[in-house]
Amino acid sequence: MLALNAISKRYGDVSVVEPLDLVIDEGEFFCILGSSGCGKTTLLRMIAGFDRPTAGRIMLDGVDITDVPPNHRDVNTVFQNYALFPHYRVYDNVAYGLKVRKTPEAEIRDRVAAALELVGLSGFERRMPAQLSGGQQQRVALARALINRPRLLLLDEPLSALDRKTGEQMRQELADLQARSGITFVFVTHNQAEALSMASRVAVMNRGVFEQCSTPFELYQRPQTRFVGDFVGSMNFFQGVVTEVSPDRLGVEVLGQSRIERRGASDLAPGDTVVFGLRPEQLRVSLLAPKDYENGFFGQIERTLFLGEATQLSVRLKSGERIDVKVPNYLMLEDKVMGLEQNEDVWVVWSKGSGVVLHA
Ligand SMILES: Nc1ncnc2c1ncn2[C@@H]1O[C@H](COP(=O)(O)OP(=O)(O)OP(=O)(O)O)[C@@H](O)[C@H]1O
Ligand SMILES: [Mg+2]
Repeated sequence: MLALNAISKRYGDVSVVEPLDLVIDEGEFFCILGSSGCGKTTLLRMIAGFDRPTAGRIMLDGVDITDVPPNHRDVNTVFQNYALFPHYRVYDNVAYGLKVRKTPEAEIRDRVAAALELVGLSGFERRMPAQLSGGQQQRVALARALINRPRLLLLDEPLSALDRKTGEQMRQELADLQARSGITFVFVTHNQAEALSMASRVAVMNRGVFEQCSTPFELYQRPQTRFVGDFVGSMNFFQGVVTEVSPDRLGVEVLGQSRIERRGASDLAPGDTVVFGLRPEQLRVSLLAPKDYENGFFGQIERTLFLGEATQLSVRLKSGERIDVKVPNYLMLEDKVMGLEQNEDVWVVWSKGSGVVLHA
């Protein structure tokens, strides 16, 4: 439905978006995830038509819209700051787009009512924006963008100004809203939890480039670059060398020990240098050596950090490296977490195959 063909943006001699290709299907909830300044808003503004790409074409439903002005594209945008008209009531904010199009008054009334119901704000018609909470203002902005049922809705960090609880609640509501309306969403965020919980697919953007574009599960389980591995969740990284490659086994030597892993790039050959990644939450600590189906490192607990639902242990390995392990606090007594203490000798253990092997 939406195709970006070698779209790029430069300001003078600074490249903000490198030439990139993207195809989004009808009905998708597509997320663009990246840190501040990586080019997300620039990309969204080109799709909306507020900025012209330096090169490349944008296609919507097979029609080249690169030179079509924003108000003639079947695309609406929800901006990060909501951009409500402060002196208009909720009703008039939502009705604005229809009034501009000279829609009959009776139809406007029905459609505003339907849009406000969709976002759970029936009864708020006469309020002014200043009389609404941040979450409610966000919903008004959504209703206003949804009212003329655009083919494509662009959302630029719409939840980032909300407190954590409200933001998490809105995630669920947005996902439901998208499913019910069937409108294709392109959602920009720097928050990986938002991307993982709502999106059908996620593109991870870094310095104007898409590093990986896949389902949330793939992104987390099979990151293709070190940046993605560490940006989506977090990861411990080590240097390694490939020792063995077969269809069901991938041998790597890490910290002078050989281990077998399966997950990772398949185009590796013995002797290749690799980056070996382990997620803190996929590790456990044990007083016993790893079993046959496991791998492990031996070390000493150097530091413990209580996080509420989990405790983060920093373990110093024999080789001098540190590794973070996140242990769920499943057993808590009245005044402490039952678990392992500082200075204790432990094994850091993981199931073979849960390590990620990447090209160095
Ligand atoms: N009009 C402009 N002229 C020059 N540079 C610009 C212009 N607009 C944006 N940039 C630069 O382009 C880069 C990408 O900006 P952009 O707003 O797309 O980032 P972003 O990913 O949306 O970041 P954030 O998460 O902070 O909103 C930044 O380094 C920014 O300084
Ligand atoms: Mg931005």
